[in-house]
Amino acid sequence: MTQPGDVTPAAPAAAAKPAPKPLPKSVHQEEVDGSKVWNLWFTRREFLTLAAWGTFLATVGGALASILRYFIPNVSYDPPTVFKIGKPIDYASGVVDERWKKKHRIWVVRDAPALGGGLYVIFGRCTHLGCTPNWLEGQNKFKCPCHGSGFRRTGMNFEGPAPRPLERCKVALADDGQIQVDVNSRFRSPKDWKRPDTYLKV
Ligand code: FES
Repeated sequence: MTQPGDVTPAAPAAAAKPAPKPLPKSVHQEEVDGSKVWNLWFTRREFLTLAAWGTFLATVGGALASILRYFIPNVSYDPPTVFKIGKPIDYASGVVDERWKKKHRIWVVRDAPALGGGLYVIFGRCTHLGCTPNWLEGQNKFKCPCHGSGFRRTGMNFEGPAPRPLERCKVALADDGQIQVDVNSRFRSPKDWKRPDTYLKV
């Protein structure tokens, strides 16, 4: 109990709080509806600086990409359309040779001597809707698995919906004696089958 004349001891001074660190200009708190919220917007100067850096980096990146592109060769992974398939002697007489069907979609046909002994190349695409026919050795014909078109070993259509023969590819004898085939140059009509570039005399 305090008596008159007692002196109330002074309360200890509150420890001084360290001053809060100043926030960066672009990150500061604002009072919204009585609550403090963080404002993360950039200042105008920071925005312009960032935009300048972005433009600079995009320009440098574009220039580097152009330089790199210059050193990367243009390579096409499509199969070539003109290619060699060996010498005529590599193909047996009277046989429809299927060794290039998978890679180049062609058959190489070498006639028997009784038929002239010539060699021609048939493109393996059905003239109905474009399926790849099969060679049926036992039936001596090409047969399309899609709608049943049939073609003789010459490529002539004779059954099913195909409206015309299988096409023949341009062929030539290269300087090294190999057969050169151009699958982009094809002949649709039997009238063309005696042309020297569709039929090799071997
Ligand atoms: Fe060959 Fe129809 S695509 S018969």
